[in-house]
Amino acid sequence: MNTRLRDGHGRAIDYLRLSLTDRCDLRCTYCMPEGFRDFETRDHWLTAEEIRRVVAAFVGLGVRRVRLTGGEPLTRREAVDIAHSIGHLPGLDDLSLTTNGTQLARHAVALRDAGVKRLNVSLDTLDRDRFTAITGHDALPAVLAGLQAASDAGFGPIKINMVLLGGVNEDEAEAMADYCIARGFVLRFIEVMPLGESGRRASPVDLPAIRRRLQQRLGLIDGVVPGGGPARYLTTADRRGSIGFITPMSQHFCETCNRVRISAEGKLLLCLGQEDSLDLRTLLRAGASDKELGEAIRAAVLRKPERHEFNSAPGKIVRIMAQTGG
Ligand code: 5AD
Ligand code: SF4
Repeated sequence: MNTRLRDGHGRAIDYLRLSLTDRCDLRCTYCMPEGFRDFETRDHWLTAEEIRRVVAAFVGLGVRRVRLTGGEPLTRREAVDIAHSIGHLPGLDDLSLTTNGTQLARHAVALRDAGVKRLNVSLDTLDRDRFTAITGHDALPAVLAGLQAASDAGFGPIKINMVLLGGVNEDEAEAMADYCIARGFVLRFIEVMPLGESGRRASPVDLPAIRRRLQQRLGLIDGVVPGGGPARYLTTADRRGSIGFITPMSQHFCETCNRVRISAEGKLLLCLGQEDSLDLRTLLRAGASDKELGEAIRAAVLRKPERHEFNSAPGKIVRIMAQTGG
């Protein structure tokens, strides 16, 4: 039987991003609007057992890679246990986690033992005051300690996600590249997307121009880094340093999209830039069988939109990243 998940545009879907919580211990200006309080109540979150069941259903449908996200996933007390419950599911090749790093020092070893293979850490600046200005918290030392702990725990290659913002951290692209290359971290620059008012208010940069600038200054050449996502990479001439560019705005990559998302409250979101979804929580709590669950997922994935409309309809998405699942 051909069980591979496919959408209505012929794209194979083999990657699931699952949010453990919409809450976060930081308040990045481009992500959370000031005073944001529109969080889901905890009884709406998928339980650890519901998460395990849903992930098993996706793995049964051919999904091979799962990433845990948030909000900040490590603010959920059961995060490591949940990772453990899916980290060793037969058929799952790759469990990864995206984190802001504030609590990584405490959890790095346990996450690795739980079966998490790869980590992406969000870090937009190496300047402590700037970090506080961007995130609302003086947590840069904690994040740097988290990165050190993750390296020591044997995670590798760790990826650093840096959202570049005009007039905020654009001037730090080179410094961050030096920092990451020296430590063996893969750096990825990300264009800010108009997710919610906060995303729309952030000032974008010309990432293709920054890419050309870095390419020249650091003598970078085309490279490949495993991961299966939309980043396009350059590497240093000795191939020891890699820098990726994620350009949802200037050069969208929807035609190769291979993923769907599940929000903390159990909505299967078919596209980051569209509202189309399936309410998995209601289905689960109504007592759906594994077969019904699988069929509902397969039917929903067929409705996956062709692409986002961030450029032509920037006001469309009211969900911020923390509500969607990064
Ligand atoms: N546009 C682009 N990236 C965003 N993130 C949060 N909000 C946005 C946005 N509007 C990033 C975070 C983190 C990842 C999970 O998503 O910086 O790296
Ligand atoms: Fe938290 Fe990530 Fe949003 Fe920053 S971008 S507030 S770290 S969820």
